[in-house]
Amino acid sequence: MYEIPVIEGDGIGPEVVGAGKQVLEAAGEAHGFDVQWQEYPFGADHYLDTGEVLPDDTLSELESYDAIYFGSVGDPRVEPGVLERGIVLRLRFEFDQYVNYRPVQLLDGIETPLRNRGPEDIDIAVIRENTEDFYVGLGGRVSEASHQRHDLERELYDASFDVDIDTDAEDLAYQLGVASKPGCQRVVRYAFETARERGDDRVTAVDKANVMPDVYGLWRETVESVSEEYETDHEFVYADAAAMDLVRDPGRYGTVVTPNLFGDILTDLGAMLQGGIGLCPGANINPDGTSLFEPMHGSAPDIAGEGAANPTATIWAGALLLDHIGESAASKSVLGALGDALAEGAVLTPDLGGDASTAEFADAVSSKL
Ligand code: NAI
Ligand code: MG
Repeated sequence: MYEIPVIEGDGIGPEVVGAGKQVLEAAGEAHGFDVQWQEYPFGADHYLDTGEVLPDDTLSELESYDAIYFGSVGDPRVEPGVLERGIVLRLRFEFDQYVNYRPVQLLDGIETPLRNRGPEDIDIAVIRENTEDFYVGLGGRVSEASHQRHDLERELYDASFDVDIDTDAEDLAYQLGVASKPGCQRVVRYAFETARERGDDRVTAVDKANVMPDVYGLWRETVESVSEEYETDHEFVYADAAAMDLVRDPGRYGTVVTPNLFGDILTDLGAMLQGGIGLCPGANINPDGTSLFEPMHGSAPDIAGEGAANPTATIWAGALLLDHIGESAASKSVLGALGDALAEGAVLTPDLGGDASTAEFADAVSSKL
């Protein structure tokens, strides 16, 4: 029996997570395990009712679990960022989920906008660093000489930055990017391990070391040194070149490891290559802690409540969750059932040109299990 905490969240969150739970339960039945969901109410309604975003005692409770199943948060009634930062980013940082794993894989039966490309060309494991880089949230705006102090607290280290600014610019803004050797090492190792599991003969490391030589210079050095621990080859590709190449020749990529910012952008590009945002799962992983499995999309308020959301991303995220907790056979079955349902194309949601509901698609996948 597995106890899995669930945060369905806002908008289409409850619909797609409902579908995902159904499919995971069906997988459990087929593979001989039970799942008990621990539901947490966080999201817009809870916030508007109680003023509570994500209480500290819940955080310590969640810490005892290996994996959280997550829908999406964000609601037009709530100021942008309150829930997204207060829940999603908080969980990522508090649980030090330093790997964002994004399979950019084109499934059978799904159309990619790239002409003459098929599933054999698009199968990329993107390993995005999830705690450092230009997303540490340190920066400021000044319009006169001033002093600002920035504190960065991480599981791995603490750092403070004292910034003395002397300027005659009318308005000046700056943003700090941070990389650390241990921070780079752990995610790069994860990428090499992933390549080994996938059977890729090369890891592609993305950076912009030519114009940001400090942050990405350290990144590069770390890739070099970690690569010595592995048989697998590696290469460096600049982020801008990677964006071009992913469109021109996606088949040349297998395992890609990238700093936070470029990973964000390249995985969205990847989302389009793999047929749309309803199809993209993501896993925020701390191999020794609490990981979180979610669709990449948001709460889609424009289609919420209509039963029109594609639950593929969430079901796929559920398969990643099963693999993470050690149910790899069940994980493979879920992916197989999902792939078969999409390839058959008899029951598809509107984003894929069908007229089936979220629940009908979930039934179609479950029945294959
Ligand atoms: P979104 O991903 O929610 O929606 C973008 C577009 O894609 C919309 O037209 C939507 O209908 C469509 N879409 C998304 N998921 C779909 C699915 N499963 N099936 C079919 N169509 C789908 O992004 P948007 O509109 O920018 O953000 C909405 C809210 O979600 C905002 O509050 C945002 O901050 C939040 N958000 C939350 C995330 C999270 O919880 N991890 C991630 C991204 C956004
Ligand atoms: Mg993004």
